[in-house]
This record gives sequence, C-alpha cells and structure tokens, in this order.
Amino acid sequence: MALSLTPPPPSTTFYFPTTLRHLHPPFHLLLSPPPLRHPRSISTVRSSSTTTTNPSPLLPSPTTSPSPLPSFRDRDPPSVNILVVGSTGYIGKFVVRELVRRGFNVISVARDRNRDQTLSSLRGSTVCFSDVTDPSALDASLSRLGVTSLDAVVSCLASRGGGIKDSWTVDYSATRNSLAAARARGASHFVLLSAICVQKPQLEFQRAKLKFEAELETEAMADPAFTYSIVRPTAFFKSLGGQVEIVKDGKPYVMFGDGRLCACKPISERDLASFIANCVVDSDKVNRILPIGGPGKALTPLEQGEMLFRLLGKEPKFLKVPIEVMDFVIGGLGLLSKVFPAMEDAVEFGRIGRYYAAESMLVWDAEKGEYSEEKTPSYGSDTLEEFFERVIREGMAGQELGEQTIF
Ligand SMILES: NC(=O)c1ccc[n+]([C@@H]2O[C@H](COP(=O)([O-])OP(=O)(O)OC[C@H]3O[C@@H](n4cnc5c(N)ncnc54)[C@H](OP(=O)(O)O)[C@@H]3O)[C@@H](O)[C@H]2O)c1
Repeated sequence: MALSLTPPPPSTTFYFPTTLRHLHPPFHLLLSPPPLRHPRSISTVRSSSTTTTNPSPLLPSPTTSPSPLPSFRDRDPPSVNILVVGSTGYIGKFVVRELVRRGFNVISVARDRNRDQTLSSLRGSTVCFSDVTDPSALDASLSRLGVTSLDAVVSCLASRGGGIKDSWTVDYSATRNSLAAARARGASHFVLLSAICVQKPQLEFQRAKLKFEAELETEAMADPAFTYSIVRPTAFFKSLGGQVEIVKDGKPYVMFGDGRLCACKPISERDLASFIANCVVDSDKVNRILPIGGPGKALTPLEQGEMLFRLLGKEPKFLKVPIEVMDFVIGGLGLLSKVFPAMEDAVEFGRIGRYYAAESMLVWDAEKGEYSEEKTPSYGSDTLEEFFERVIREGMAGQELGEQTIF
C-alpha cells in the first residue's frame, strides 16, 4: 500500500469489509524448529514456476536444540536463498533488484497475473507464482518449484487498498503465511517492511502490522536461532509526488492547516531497498526495530511546496485547507456507515487521509511528547529535490499509487 501524504483527490474506490482474520498462536507453537541440515540449493529454473523439481517434505525433522549451523551470513551470496514476498510492489521490486545485484539466490513470490510483465520486472530471481493469502497454495507452489531450503525472508507485502479486511488479510495473515512457509524450509531471519506510523497506531492496517511485528518478536524469543529486522520507513517519494504535475499546470499546492502540521524525511525506493538488503546481512540489525528516513532534514508540506515552486520557477501559490474539513467528512461517513455497514472502509480511508495530514512520519519522542527529527535516522543519497526535478521532467511514471488514490 502506498501512503499519500498529499490531500486526497475526490474519487476513490471503496472496498467492503467482512470479518477480520487474526488471533493465531505464535509460530513456535505451530511449527517445528528449522532442520539441522538443509540443502543449500533450489531449482535452477529461473523465471518460471511451472516446472516441478525436487519436491521435498514441507516440515523438517523436529529438534529441541537451536540449530548448530553457522549463519547464512558467513556464506557466499549465491548460496544464500532469500524469499521475497510483496516482490511486485513499489519497494519489493527494488528489493529484488538489489538482492539480485548483490548476488543472492532470490525467490520472488508474485500473484499469478501479468506473467510476462512480472517475469520481466523480477529478472534475475526465480519467480514463484502463488497466492500468499492461502498457506497451502503458497506451500505447494514453493514445493513444486523445488524450494526446499531458505535462509531469509523479506516481506514487502502490504494491502494495496488499506481497507479493514484487506489489511488483516495481507499485512497480517499473508505475511504470517510467508513466515510459516519459510520457517518450514529452515529460514532463520525475517526482514519485515513495516511503517514508522505504527508507533502511534490509530488505523486498522497499523494494528495488523503491529500484531505481526509482535509475533516475530515472540518467535525470536522462543527460538534463539531465529532473528528478525523490522524496518519502519518514513514517507516514500511516490507519496509526496502527487502534486508535482498539478502545480506544474499552474494550480495551487494544497496543504492542511498552515502546512506545518506534519513533517517527514522522505526516502527513495532505491535507498530503502539498499537498507533492507543490509538488514538481511548485517548482524547488528538483528532483533531490532529500525526506523529509517532518507538524507537531509525533515520537510513539512509547506517546505515541500516551496521547493516545488522554486524548481518550477513559479511564484508560490498555496491552498490551505482546515484540518477540520477532514473531521467533518469522517464524521459524516461514520454516520452513514452505521446505516450502511459496507461503508466502513470509506470511513477508514478518511481516517487514513486525516492521519497523514496531521501526523509526522518521524520517530516519536515519548519523553518529550513530540516527533523528533534528530531521533529519525537517515540513510541513502537520493533527495526529494532530485525526485521532484525528475517528475517535472518525466512525469510520475513508475511512481503510481495503489488502487486507492489516497495512499
Ligand atoms: N507510502 C509510504 O509513504 C510508506 C511509508 C512508510 C512505510 N510504508 C509501508 O511500506 C509497505 C510497502 O509499500 P509499497 O508501496 O511497496 O506497497 P505496494 O506497492 O502497494 O505493494 C504491495 C505488495 O503486496 C502485494 N499484495 C497486496 N495485496 C495482495 C494480495 N491480496 N495477495 C497477494 N499479494 C498482495 C502486492 O502484489 P500485487 O503487485 O500483485 O498487487 C505487492 O507486491 C507498506 O507496508 C506501507 O505501509 C509506506
């Protein structure tokens, strides 16, 4: 899911919630520990999932002691098998590219649609077409492909819509299914792409992510041979680029309040992918929650707007929308949803818009009771200014938001 930090355009498509799927026991109660020995190679078939090679038992032999195997970090990248789920997303594609560039043996899981396009965008990895929302389907597809051994998982899965049911299905259940499938193949490390906003949870997708984060921690406590890295990035570039073309066309830059209600340290998809790849291999990043932003100072919407006008050589023109407008809209939708429960997601989308209009994507300093630019680490070299320049030149191609236009 992409989170737009700019005000929502008027039209969105709404999803309809049903029941939530959650409250499972921790993994160590469900799964056998990793095998003492596992094969170090998978099928050499690249970019295809249709060939069934070397199927293997799904669960390794049970053992009660931690794995004595040396860490996969000590091996050469080509012999390290990394599963990437959410591989077709904005960040996932870059993560696959980065891990392939570093020489790892990458297995990308993708939905079985637009095969040619998917195979092309995930070049260099072995593509497993499957359904991560269905644990048996995922397990069977990996087995059919001959994936008997995994070392690490990177999850860039996210609900594309952010609706209530979809968040629990994808951000929680599907991510959990990926952990189960990977643990059954000996994986000892899980890198989760989460979001900085979960530190102040008010939205359903944040609660779904937090629940999975907590299960990762439980799993690591129960099995010392298992580790995790939880990556909580600030804003992505795509979430800030939505107004570039509008402003270029002479319209005003729209912001809530005085444009200083929130701030972020935006990070590019390339830099974030590099940081995530580091989380696979750096032992100083294990069993940690890692907030991460891009280079430079934190920027408010006002500062982003001023930057944009400067780059365009135009006189700044702002449209300041009172934040109360969003409260009014959410209140109205809330009333309607009492009569039409199917509108519950519409209310949630309103809440998401309100959240990103007013909350900073920076580390929350609990002692001071405020967001802290200083406490938000920076990584990478791509700047928002360079991104704006590129969008001014080339448009937003490749930076499309999800099915919802609000995030
Ligand atoms: N946008 C921001 O500013 C921001 C900031 C911080 C953190 N984040 C977090 O970053 C994460 C990833 O964001 P992103 O923009 O890379 O996400 P994205 O582009 O929306 O990609 C989501 C991925 O999940 C997959 N997926 C979604 N629903 C699925 C389903 N039902 N079944 C199977 N696969 C499904 C998608 O597959 P398909 O391609 O097949 O749909 C895609 O690979 C999210 O957790 C978000 O909260 C975002």
